[in-house]
Amino acid sequence: MNSNLRIVLVLSLLGIAVVAYNLVNQEPGKVSIGNPESDKIILPKTDGHGPLLLKSSADCAPCHQEIYDEWKGSHHEFAWLNPEPRRKELSNNFRNKDCIPCHAPRPLIEVGYGDRALERETRREDGVNCFTCHKFKNVMAAANDLSPMAKTAPCNPVPWQPVSRVMLCSPCHDQHKVEQDWLRSKYSQVDSEDYKDCNDCHMPITPGPGTKGGSRKTHRGHGFKGGHDAGILKTAGIVRAVAVKEGDSLADKIATLTKRKWQPKSGTTLKRGVLIEVKNTGTGHNFPSDERHRAVDLYARFLPKNGKPQEAVRLARFRNPYRNEFENINPFKDKPNTALKNTISWAGADVELTQVRILPAFNPDRKVFYPESTQLHAGESRFLWFELPDWGGGVLELTLYYKLQPYLSNEESTEVGRSHVSF
Ligand code: HEC
Ligand code: HEC
Ligand code: HEC
Ligand code: HEC
Ligand code: HEC
Repeated sequence: MNSNLRIVLVLSLLGIAVVAYNLVNQEPGKVSIGNPESDKIILPKTDGHGPLLLKSSADCAPCHQEIYDEWKGSHHEFAWLNPEPRRKELSNNFRNKDCIPCHAPRPLIEVGYGDRALERETRREDGVNCFTCHKFKNVMAAANDLSPMAKTAPCNPVPWQPVSRVMLCSPCHDQHKVEQDWLRSKYSQVDSEDYKDCNDCHMPITPGPGTKGGSRKTHRGHGFKGGHDAGILKTAGIVRAVAVKEGDSLADKIATLTKRKWQPKSGTTLKRGVLIEVKNTGTGHNFPSDERHRAVDLYARFLPKNGKPQEAVRLARFRNPYRNEFENINPFKDKPNTALKNTISWAGADVELTQVRILPAFNPDRKVFYPESTQLHAGESRFLWFELPDWGGGVLELTLYYKLQPYLSNEESTEVGRSHVSF
């Protein structure tokens, strides 16, 4: 082998090694499933406490009534009895055993904190229960300082801070990269005022002590609200819009509407149109999140001053599509700041729609896991604009709908936001 060839070979082997190293060590400070960090965790102290006699989540209710009630209506409690995962084509009534570990899990601290969840044999109807997150052998992991009352409590609480870490959620919630998205967003920056972890948004501080007779005024809510809750969905994102007239500069409109500086190609003008922004303002990860069924749709309809309201038309869909959903495959391929056009047929007119994705101000170059996806990353915007056909005076109504399944109608969906523009 001549020496040049040898150098090339060594360099490419080095390249492969670097790539492999980067794949394993994706991000500094990251804690992931099976990560060696889980071995560094010092487990809760179990001595000084007798056996744990409590067997089910219902046994906690007498002393932690508020928390029990919150959990009782949550999708964590529902994880085993929920008919959705049981559907024939999905787990076939959990005959597919691969589906059981996260839907009826054993206590996570016992199976290896931060490691993959394992399936439980007993009381599966309790789904993701109190023991899943708190139990370690004969004790319960407590995130807070304990009061003297704790000494005689039958649940044997012991202080153990790691229970409030993101590492508790990731073994089950990172299969579609929710934690990975969060790690790349401004919310994961520990020393910044934007810092918010999973619990800040999903376990909000709630009135009431959480423990009967407890001295604290508040506790962390255990409802774990997500896609099934209209309240948290209202905080997820926004839609806003302004009218654009002949002579208006689109760049100025963008600046006043959104305070963002993205400039369209010079000379882009509209005679009588509308500029819309859809933005992920409150979701600490992709919106919609990575449960593969979800979709967020932007619909528009024109309400003429005189005459019947039009049928609503879909302007855009935000979603991580399945392979066979060709109509949803991302035309952007994650290309930012590029104006893409498509024509939609709308109440007998052909409307040319332009769309641009504007990357988040924080960490715009973040790694993208699903290039075919049109989900909005935390902080990301989509601008859309078009000329309005000659429909006379009236109001354009824009609505952002959240759909648990992509084939649900707007009536079966949750309204995230709405905006009106008068003409
Ligand atoms: C007879 C009453 C009683 C029962 C039943 C009970 N607990 Fe407790 N629990 C307490 C008391 C008292 C404390 C201490 C509260 C404090 O120090 O502020 C406590 C503390 C805790 C803590 C720590 C709270 C913190 O401030 O971080 C957890 C977690 C906990 N219990 C879980 C459970 C679970 C899970 C069950 C059911 C399997 C349960 N408890 C059943 C009385 C009870
Ligand atoms: C690694 C853990 C894990 C495994 C294994 C797992 N799931 Fe899930 N599943 C989850 C989590 C976490 C959610 C909640 C995700 C969300 O809402 O974003 C969920 C939610 C679901 C939902 C949506 C429920 C609803 O009401 O919207 C369905 C359906 C589902 N899972 C089916 C399955 C099937 C089928 C399998 C087996 C092929 C499976 N899951 C295996 C963790 C898991
Ligand atoms: C042992 C696995 C497991 C752990 C740990 C876990 N979850 Fe879940 N979570 C699930 C499953 C499974 C579902 C969906 C159940 C269903 O709908 O069938 C779910 C659902 C949710 C939902 C969505 C509710 C909805 O409306 O669809 C939120 C939000 C959530 N979890 C947040 C969290 C947070 C925050 C943590 C960490 C504190 C966490 N989870 C820890 C398994 C887990
Ligand atoms: C998905 C995981 C999860 C489940 C399920 C869960 N907890 Fe918790 N719980 C937590 C976390 C995380 C905290 C600590 C939040 C913090 O303070 O940072 C907590 C806090 C608590 C506290 C202290 C509350 C406070 O803020 O003062 C009590 C008591 C408690 N849990 C009891 C229960 C009981 C009882 C159940 C079942 C009905 C339950 N938990 C189910 C994760 C869970
Ligand atoms: C800044 C607030 C915020 C942070 C931080 C955050 N979330 Fe969320 N999350 C939301 C909002 C808002 C929604 C509802 C919109 C949606 O489903 O996309 C949501 C939805 C979810 C859902 C429900 C998805 C579904 O399909 O039903 C899960 C599961 C979830 N988050 C888990 C997590 C986990 C795990 C973390 C931490 C790694 C986290 N979230 C961090 C705000 C947040």
